[in-house]
Amino acid sequence: MTPLRWGILGPGRIAPRLVRAIAACPRATLAAVASRDPDRAAAFAAAHAVPRSFGSYAALLAAPDVDVVYIALPNHLHAEWTIRALEAGKHVLCEKPLALTVADVDAIAAAADRTGRIAVEAFMYLHHPQILHAVDLARSGALGRLELIDGSFTFFLSHPGDPRAEPSMGGGSLWDVGCYPVSFARRVAGEEPERVTALARFDERGVDWTFIGQMRFPSGLLAQFDSGFAAPDRQRLEIVGGDATLVLDHPFLTAPDGPPPSLTLRRAGEATRVEIPPVDQYAAEVDDLSAAILDGAEPRVSIGFSRGSIAVLADLDRAARTSAGLAVG
Ligand SMILES: NC(=O)c1ccc[n+]([C@@H]2O[C@H](COP(=O)([O-])OP(=O)(O)OC[C@H]3O[C@@H](n4cnc5c(N)ncnc54)[C@H](OP(=O)(O)O)[C@@H]3O)[C@@H](O)[C@H]2O)c1
Repeated sequence: MTPLRWGILGPGRIAPRLVRAIAACPRATLAAVASRDPDRAAAFAAAHAVPRSFGSYAALLAAPDVDVVYIALPNHLHAEWTIRALEAGKHVLCEKPLALTVADVDAIAAAADRTGRIAVEAFMYLHHPQILHAVDLARSGALGRLELIDGSFTFFLSHPGDPRAEPSMGGGSLWDVGCYPVSFARRVAGEEPERVTALARFDERGVDWTFIGQMRFPSGLLAQFDSGFAAPDRQRLEIVGGDATLVLDHPFLTAPDGPPPSLTLRRAGEATRVEIPPVDQYAAEVDDLSAAILDGAEPRVSIGFSRGSIAVLADLDRAARTSAGLAVG
């Protein structure tokens, strides 16, 4: 079997995790990297033993010996380069958020249909066994009737000039890390919220540095979350059912990039640890896309799921910007 040949657009901070992941997957091999700057591309290629480097993203897309493109660019470039890669005949793994508007997700879906290629949003944590287990447990009824999902993801943003703090580049903690607890709640609910509310602390340029949001699903399930750039590292998910509660202490970044998985089931005053082996969730997402391309399997993160994510994030963002802080989803 010939492994799929991957190319990376954007040799930034996240790209080395995909270098590691692709190296761990027998059905994938890293063929090329591209930067806007030929020297940066060459330096990344040398540091990570990538066979070829390109001094423009378009040049990598024109390379016939690349099958899949990983897009690790700032948020405002995701839709444009995903569509350009699809139109160049490549399959795409694009970092989250897949786009900043529902119209752009629809344009990606149309390009995928037109070209017969697959585009997947890189929500790596959704491939981790601890998340698969938590979602299955909650949806099986083992926690009783689901009442509430509570999630957090914060860190200090200290990197000067980071695109995450740029209003014109899809900045803000909601789009950067709030998207994790929002996607988790939707995964557990298995449907889209019918109403959202939100409040945020925006900087003088309108970028949120702390965000709190709430969602109500048609089943009655409630979810709330906070995200932020101005607080220490916090990551947590709690699923509250009528019979039991499940707590995930490190739901989004686990070993080898964070602490090992930690799931605790609390029922009738007793806490039970659920043992989950550590896995490289980035390798799991590469395997998932390989199976979609080579075997015709359904990708775990469908375009439809991503469309729902972007719609809810846009609704939450709008809700926080209205004077009342309220909106109907
Ligand atoms: N799934 C995860 O675990 C995870 C973790 C972190 C980030 N992310 C996502 O991955 C994406 C990239 O994040 P990152 O932390 O790797 O970002 P980064 O370090 O800022 O790198 C982004 C790369 O984009 C390229 N770029 C193109 N146009 C740019 C512009 N106008 N300004 C700045 N850079 C530009 C740059 O490469 P050249 O200039 O060399 O071409 C840069 O190296 C984001 O969408 C983020 O949400 C995901």
